[in-house]
Amino acid sequence: MLLDNHGRKISYLRLAVTDKCNLRCFYCMPEQGLDWLSRKKLMSYNEMLRMCRVMLSMGIEKIRITGGEPFVRKDMMQLLTAISGLDGLKELTITTNGVLTAPYIADLKKIGIRSINLSLDTLDAGRFFAITRRDEFSAVLDTLQELLKQDFDMKINTVVMAGKNTQDIIPLVELTKELPVSVRFIEEMPFNGDGHQHSGIAWDYVRIFDEIRQAYPSIQKIPDPQFSTAYNYQIPGHQGSIGIIAAYSRTFCGTCNRVRVTPNGMLKNCLYDDGVLNIKDLMRLGMSDAELTSTLKRAFSTREKDGWQAEQKRLENPASESMATIGG
Ligand code: GTP
Ligand code: 5AD
Ligand code: SF4
Repeated sequence: MLLDNHGRKISYLRLAVTDKCNLRCFYCMPEQGLDWLSRKKLMSYNEMLRMCRVMLSMGIEKIRITGGEPFVRKDMMQLLTAISGLDGLKELTITTNGVLTAPYIADLKKIGIRSINLSLDTLDAGRFFAITRRDEFSAVLDTLQELLKQDFDMKINTVVMAGKNTQDIIPLVELTKELPVSVRFIEEMPFNGDGHQHSGIAWDYVRIFDEIRQAYPSIQKIPDPQFSTAYNYQIPGHQGSIGIIAAYSRTFCGTCNRVRVTPNGMLKNCLYDDGVLNIKDLMRLGMSDAELTSTLKRAFSTREKDGWQAEQKRLENPASESMATIGG
């Protein structure tokens, strides 16, 4: 078992495959987009595969591929297929904005992917455009419908933003009545790429819960899976469930089992740290698998106790970073 310096099991790798995105979500990046990474600065698929293989041999069990939309990157199915065949992998999964995913869902099923997390912040086409600055609402709904049709275990991720989509909280909860999905409300974090004020403090997990409880006084707590970032609930009689993720309050750091790798190969021990080492650069310098393993082990033994401490150590202004370069 792979343990960090605080005795926490590390078993979950979140690999962000691209910084490019086909949406411009207000809480993630400015309207003009980012200074996209050049091809040379991106980790290649071979480098990603090698890194996954090494991490799986060290104790990683679950890999989540994240975007934006992972399918923005060419030949994504090839990478997913190759990762799905690696020894030691217990679960491969994806988080996507859903814009390009629908046509690949049958193929994803074929390589053993069973669960997908889909970002959807509103059920209203106008508000979707206001939040994402792109007219892709129907493409995302197609993905949602296709995932349901093909029996995927689906979670919907909704970032709660003051003045943008708080009126969607109850309609999204209502979705769980007939649909077997988990709708998860996420505190907005400061990774919006331009430093504007975020809603994490005003709309924290307590306020989100109160909003739902007022409409559904019968709401019940249900057990949280091991390592869950969400507090999970259900409305009696509803098929689906509800989750609240205290991503800004960071109430779950004590059981954090995850590490992240950004599209340019930077290892992040915490969503809120600045990155601890660049794996791609080490590979390009010629490190062997054994050297890589011992370097990663050392890095995993310098994890901060929680996201607040990690954030304090950041060298740059945290608000200027975009979630698209982290992968969520
Ligand atoms: P499951 O594996 O299905 O539980 O999903 P997940 O919550 O690990 O992944 P997902 O990509 O769906 O993330 C949902 C939200 O939780 C996103 O806004 C993430 O940024 C946030 N989140 C995930 N991991 C962390 C974390 O370690 N710290 C914080 N603060 N937020 C996180
Ligand atoms: N705050 C909270 N969640 C965010 N995400 C992207 N940016 C932010 C932010 N600033 C979410 C996306 C996606 C997940 C991977 O991260 O909505 O569901
Ligand atoms: Fe793209 Fe996700 Fe950022 Fe929206 S939140 S712009 S979908 S990376």
